[in-house]
Amino acid sequence: MQTKENMQYFIKTFGCQMNEHDSEIIAGILDSAGYQPASDISAADVIIINTCCIRESAENKIWGYIGNLKACKYRKPGVILAAVGCMMQQKTLGELLQRQGRHLDIVLGTYQQHRLPEYITRVLAGEGPIVDISEDNSDFPDELPSRRQSSFAAQVNIIYGCNNFCSYCIVPYVRGRERSRDFAAIMAELCSLAASGIKEVMLLGQNVNSYGKDWRRQGRTDAPDFADLLREACSVDGLERIRYMSSHPRDFSLDLVDTISDLPKIRDYYHLPLQSGCDKILKAMNRGYNTDDYLAIIERIRQKTPTAAITTDLIVGFPGETEADFQQTLDFVNKCRFDAAYTFLYSPRSGTPAATMAEQVPLNIKKKRLQRLTMLQNQISLELNQSYLGRKVQVLVEGLSKNNSDFYTGRTASNKIVIFKGQPEQIGQIVDLTISGAKTWHLEAL
Ligand code: SAH
Ligand code: SF4
Ligand code: F3S
Repeated sequence: MQTKENMQYFIKTFGCQMNEHDSEIIAGILDSAGYQPASDISAADVIIINTCCIRESAENKIWGYIGNLKACKYRKPGVILAAVGCMMQQKTLGELLQRQGRHLDIVLGTYQQHRLPEYITRVLAGEGPIVDISEDNSDFPDELPSRRQSSFAAQVNIIYGCNNFCSYCIVPYVRGRERSRDFAAIMAELCSLAASGIKEVMLLGQNVNSYGKDWRRQGRTDAPDFADLLREACSVDGLERIRYMSSHPRDFSLDLVDTISDLPKIRDYYHLPLQSGCDKILKAMNRGYNTDDYLAIIERIRQKTPTAAITTDLIVGFPGETEADFQQTLDFVNKCRFDAAYTFLYSPRSGTPAATMAEQVPLNIKKKRLQRLTMLQNQISLELNQSYLGRKVQVLVEGLSKNNSDFYTGRTASNKIVIFKGQPEQIGQIVDLTISGAKTWHLEAL
């Protein structure tokens, strides 16, 4: 029988930053339990797939990946296959057992991932397959170890779950209600990250603006809020850049813009998901703001920090979106002039209100709209990037460029990618560069 001391694990992650960080935590938990990270999947004794179900395309990719893992079982019969995360939480037990082809040994939802070592031990003892998608998180620890992928940028959870129930979105069903993480635990983590040389932190939550609201609802009137957390995070020496993901325009007050504008470690970059530039669609999406509210935030940001970059998320082809509604989105995008937009085809998610709404938009129309939106946004991104030509910027160096290993890549405070001629010892450092080239998706300093 295998023992965990000589066992190696491999994690494949799909999905958002939250999942990326969950995988770092899973690795940290397995390290603490005595397992070793495998250099590649073929060396692994335990393979963990961290799943996402935000869109159908993600799910299809993941089922394909899980299907291919059957071959690993044939090659190495003792290998343990575990699937965890959002998509596992979403499925009914029956569906999971039917789809998994009986070759997954462990299926865990988003609330039970810290139990992985215990379940691996049980499978090693002959039990299985084990499915635990229980929503009981009463013993979920505030502090968990993590094996971080980067030595200079780190992600830190500040709030779990989401209460918003945007009508298209699966997240509230798979990540549960909002739970703020203890303020002191967050600050302790930030300080220890700074002490270990981390320069940039990303504060994570589905709606970071809700930080502390759950406590205030329970009557703790003195509970800290998101602005308190940002101010405190900025006071940690050594941390040079503070980012957060995601914020919700409904909860993004003008006061919060004013607070951020006074914090140089944060103020150069805003990601503010708009979703649609049509008020009728925003209402049907249950977003809780209209385009006027949104524009007021953008104008305040530009008034306070004219050089700040603003990016957004947009969904095309939400049920009931007519050509005229879509045109309003194009017009509004033209008005806001985002530095970049992450654009998605609306994907019906079973169990969400929008999935059963009448007037679903045909796929070919959605695709054509996405193309038009992308063309417009690319043009705007390029123009805004061109305004950087000749400008001096500070770049946190990330490493060799993936597309061309003669160059290095890094990011400005405004989160723009910069490609430049660098040195290996600059990785993890902030360097001064002058922008000499501008493309749609990146800047150059050559
Ligand atoms: N909590 C974050 C978003 C998480 S999901 C927020 O509210 O900003 C990231 C993005 O995926 C969303 O902003 C949205 O644009 C997109 N998205 C979510 N559900 C979707 C769906 N059913 N179809 C297409 N895009 C979707
Ligand atoms: Fe989904 Fe809306 Fe919550 Fe974001 S705020 S996770 S889009 S329900
Ligand atoms: Fe996907 Fe879950 Fe993130 S559904 S986008 S991994 S919160």
